[in-house]
Amino acid sequence: MTGLLEGRSAIVTGAGRGIGRAIAESLAAQGASVIVADNGASIAGDGGDPSVAQDVAKALGNKSIAFTESVASPGTAKQLVDLAVKTYGGIDIVVNNAAILRDAFVFRMDPADWDAVIRNNLSAAFYLINAASAVMREQGKKGRGGKDGYDWGRIVNIVSSAGLYGNLGQAAYASAKAGLFGLTRVTAMDLQRAAITCNAVAPFAKTRVTDIIQPANEAQKTYKERALKIGAHHVANLVAALCAPEAKGITGQLLGVRGREVFLFGQPRPVAKLEVEKSETLAADLMAKLGGKFTDMTTDLEAFNTEPLV
Ligand SMILES: NC(=O)c1ccc[n+]([C@@H]2O[C@H](COP(=O)([O-])OP(=O)(O)OC[C@H]3O[C@@H](n4cnc5c(N)ncnc54)[C@H](O)[C@@H]3O)[C@@H](O)[C@H]2O)c1
Repeated sequence: MTGLLEGRSAIVTGAGRGIGRAIAESLAAQGASVIVADNGASIAGDGGDPSVAQDVAKALGNKSIAFTESVASPGTAKQLVDLAVKTYGGIDIVVNNAAILRDAFVFRMDPADWDAVIRNNLSAAFYLINAASAVMREQGKKGRGGKDGYDWGRIVNIVSSAGLYGNLGQAAYASAKAGLFGLTRVTAMDLQRAAITCNAVAPFAKTRVTDIIQPANEAQKTYKERALKIGAHHVANLVAALCAPEAKGITGQLLGVRGREVFLFGQPRPVAKLEVEKSETLAADLMAKLGGKFTDMTTDLEAFNTEPLV
C-alpha cells in the first residue's frame, strides 16, 4: 500500500509511544505527513516530556512535526488543527489514540480521577473531532482531494474491549471508551454527507501499559504473557487500511485487532422483547421471559483468553 496516502495530512494523538507511534509510522510509510501529538505524560497522565513526541517526529523525517501540549482541551485541539492547516494546507486524517489510566474499584475511586480520565480519553477526542471536522468539511467544498471531490476524510477512534465488556476496577476508563464508541457512531452519521468516515478500533498490543500489568491470579498471568507477544504494528496496519482510499465505504463500524486477527464487533440492538401487561409482575416477567437472553458477566480479559495469532 506504500504511497497511497501521499499528499494527505494526519494528526495522531498519543503518537509518542506504543500503539500511537506505530500508527504514525504506518501512515508516514504510506506517504502521509504526520503531526505527532504527545505530551509525554505518565500512564496516569501526570507530568510531561516534550522529547517523547519530538524524537518520534525526528525519526519519521521531514514530513512530520511534533505537538507537545496535552490534547485534552478545546484550545489545544484548535491549535493542533491550525498547525496542520498552516504546515500541510489541510487535515485529512485524525486518529484519537491518546489515553490515560487511573484504575480503582468504583466504591473507592476519587471523583477527581474520574474527571481526569473522562476529559483525557473522551472529551479530548470530541474537541479534536469538533475542530478538525469543521475544517475537513470546508476544505472538501474548496476542492481538496481533486476533481472527483473530497471523498476520503478519515477519523479513527481507538477504543478498548474494556469499554465493550467491562473490566474490574476500570469504571472511568471503560466509561470513557464506551462513550468514545457513541461519539464514533454520531460522528459517522453527522459527517456521512461530507464523505468523511469515522470508525472505532479496539486494539490489543504490547506497550508500556501491558508491561506494567501486575497479575493477581493465573488467568491474568496468562493474559499478560499473551499480550506481550502482540506487536503494535498489527493495530497500525488496520488503522492505515481504514485510511486508504478503498475504505471510503467503511464508516460507523467497531473493529478489534489482536495480532493478525481482525474482528468486526456487533453493535447493541434489541435481542428480545417483552410486552408489559401488569407493572406488579414486571420484575418476575423480566426474569421469566428475558432471563435466558441476559448478557453474561464476562470481562474483556476472560473474553479474549485464547492464544494470539502473531
Ligand atoms: N495496549 C493495549 O493492549 C490496549 C488495549 C486496549 C486499548 N488500548 C488503547 O490504545 C491506545 C494507546 O495505548 P498504549 O498502550 O499505546 O498506551 P501508551 O501509554 O503507551 O501511549 C499513550 C500515549 O498517549 C500520550 N497521551 C496521553 N494523554 C495525552 C494527552 N492528553 N495529550 C497528549 N498525549 C497524551 C502519552 O504520553 C503516551 O505517549 C489508548 O487509547 C489505549 O486506551 C490499548
